[in-house]
Amino acid sequence: MGGTPVVRLARLVDAGHAEVWVKLEGANPTGSYKDRMALSIIEAAAADGRLRPGQAVVEASVGSTGSALAFVCAATGHPLRVVSSGAAAVEKIRTMRAFGAEVELVPSPYGMTPDLVPAMTRRAAEIAAETGAYLVDQFHNTDMLPGYHRLGAELAAQLPGPAGLDAFCSYVGTAGCFLGATRALRAAYPGLRRVVVEPAESAVLSGGPAGSHQIEGGGIGARPPLLAPADHDEVLAVAEADAFAMARRAAREEGLLCGPSTGANLVAAIRLAARLGPGHRVATVQVDSGLKYLAGPLFAASP
Ligand SMILES: Cc1ncc(COP(=O)(O)O)c(C=O)c1O
Repeated sequence: MGGTPVVRLARLVDAGHAEVWVKLEGANPTGSYKDRMALSIIEAAAADGRLRPGQAVVEASVGSTGSALAFVCAATGHPLRVVSSGAAAVEKIRTMRAFGAEVELVPSPYGMTPDLVPAMTRRAAEIAAETGAYLVDQFHNTDMLPGYHRLGAELAAQLPGPAGLDAFCSYVGTAGCFLGATRALRAAYPGLRRVVVEPAESAVLSGGPAGSHQIEGGGIGARPPLLAPADHDEVLAVAEADAFAMARRAAREEGLLCGPSTGANLVAAIRLAARLGPGHRVATVQVDSGLKYLAGPLFAASP
């Protein structure tokens, strides 16, 4: 887990713009940076006795966290129950079940809607109260931050030469990745601009109304509880259609297979690169592998 590669975009960025570097988190065991948080959370809870050997674990997850927890729980001997939803890619639900997790689905015919995460979270808390399972509670669990801190520290060590890093951007759900990575990166680059990415259709951090969208994994319709206004310097809203189009272009033009949230990250990073200009650097993350989205609408539309 971790030690993932970093590549520089070669064709999606104009020659007169800043460099864009991408940390390829699809290279983790379940194909997502969520593996880092699952291990970090389970290890921390086991270390101080909040999680006993063999105790069941429960969590609400649209998909990637559930897949990563299912992997880590299988490896560490904890039964897992996941409350997920119809908004999750079918590959993610099957991954959870393949690792032996019990999955319960909350209906969500309209994708990521503002009431979805609260409904899933309530159900997971109910299960924890009824069964005594350890509730991960990812929207409030700071045990994940060391896992993402390592991601940021790796990235700082991997960027070549003394050029530095001017900006980092990423799409937020829990904001765990954004917080852990930017804290590590700020230690290496004190002037770093920290840019949160959100869906234009639910741009609440930009002051807009909550709405439904298809960029799964974030844009929850409210400020993530762990993310304080002082934790970011800017918010960029990316339209769902632009995120999807960029994910498709990244596959064809860069050989970078990714999902919608990574598409949003790339749109934001390329916008920042245009603004910053030559001699500057922007970094972002490939959240997960596009292999998780092959059965859904993202690549089905490709001729
Ligand atoms: C596909 C995808 N992208 C982005 C995110 C956002 O990551 P974070 O929760 O660290 O903010 C998630 C989180 O679930 C996700 O599943």
